[in-house]
Amino acid sequence: MPDCPAIRVIASPSANLQTGFPPALRSVPHSIVQIEHSEGAEFDAVFRDVSIVFHDGPAIHPQEEAMSIVIIDAAKAAGVDHFILCSVFQPMRTKLRTHQTKLRIEEYLVESRLSYTILQPPNFMQNIPLDAVLSSGLIPTGFSTSVAHGFVDLNDVSLVARKVILDPARHNLAQYELVGENISYDEITSMLSRISRRNIQCEVLTPTEFVARLRLSGEVRTEYAEDSLVRMLVYYDRWGLVGNSNALKWLLGREPTKWEAYAQRELFANLH
Ligand SMILES: NC(=O)c1ccc[n+]([C@@H]2O[C@H](COP(=O)([O-])OP(=O)(O)OC[C@H]3O[C@@H](n4cnc5c(N)ncnc54)[C@H](OP(=O)(O)O)[C@@H]3O)[C@@H](O)[C@H]2O)c1
Repeated sequence: MPDCPAIRVIASPSANLQTGFPPALRSVPHSIVQIEHSEGAEFDAVFRDVSIVFHDGPAIHPQEEAMSIVIIDAAKAAGVDHFILCSVFQPMRTKLRTHQTKLRIEEYLVESRLSYTILQPPNFMQNIPLDAVLSSGLIPTGFSTSVAHGFVDLNDVSLVARKVILDPARHNLAQYELVGENISYDEITSMLSRISRRNIQCEVLTPTEFVARLRLSGEVRTEYAEDSLVRMLVYYDRWGLVGNSNALKWLLGREPTKWEAYAQRELFANLH
């Protein structure tokens, strides 16, 4: 991208540089700094000369709020011009622990006196691993498959982030709900079956069974995450997580990507 400003990725020491970041980020003018989330001069120095911070915190981590506060404080101390927070759709749904945490982080940012933009995505379409779904024919869920959920394509989120980064003043003090489409898992499986000409079904597990599976695969490693996820699945079973896509449409200047277009794009190489 010709107008791409210099990007400094600030990542944890455990981040895998080879697979986690595109090669372009590892060469000048971009850079990757690996550092523990902590207070102190070394951590603060990483934010020096940074004009815009995009904060993408760990999704279900007991220290998420503390890490985010440290980063907001460091950004403020370094005099950054603008702070973009990747939050979550409708953080006021505080029965969800993940949303409750994001609500407190949003409040801290809003009261930081920094210029800011808050992005509020619902579930990423990319959460459902399409290659694995096509080979097993199954999408495991831990909740009712007839309940609708809001989804967004991460590419659309990236385009919005780019827009904000290139013109932060225009998006100052804004909170944007980034809903691409409300759709149930039943509708996703029937659409995937149709376009892949395979039989794709939901595999409905109890929340405990679903989380036990994630623990076995190593995707969930702490009791905090297990507990948060079980609560989330129970919530999703009753309420889902639906919203309005007008804000995303306005930001993109076009219709947001829908599930079918996303699946066609991602599966094209496998199917034709
Ligand atoms: N996934 C969704 O559907 C969804 C929906 C709405 C909002 N969100 C929010 O969007 C953001 C990104 O979501 P995600 O699913 O990509 O989250 P994620 O997998 O937890 O990754 C978020 C970032 O946190 C970093 N991270 C994880 N553990 C860390 C640690 N112990 N110390 C320092 N950094 C750590 C990750 O780095 P590594 O890659 O190196 O681990 C990554 O850069 C999160 O804030 C999440 O709450 C996600």
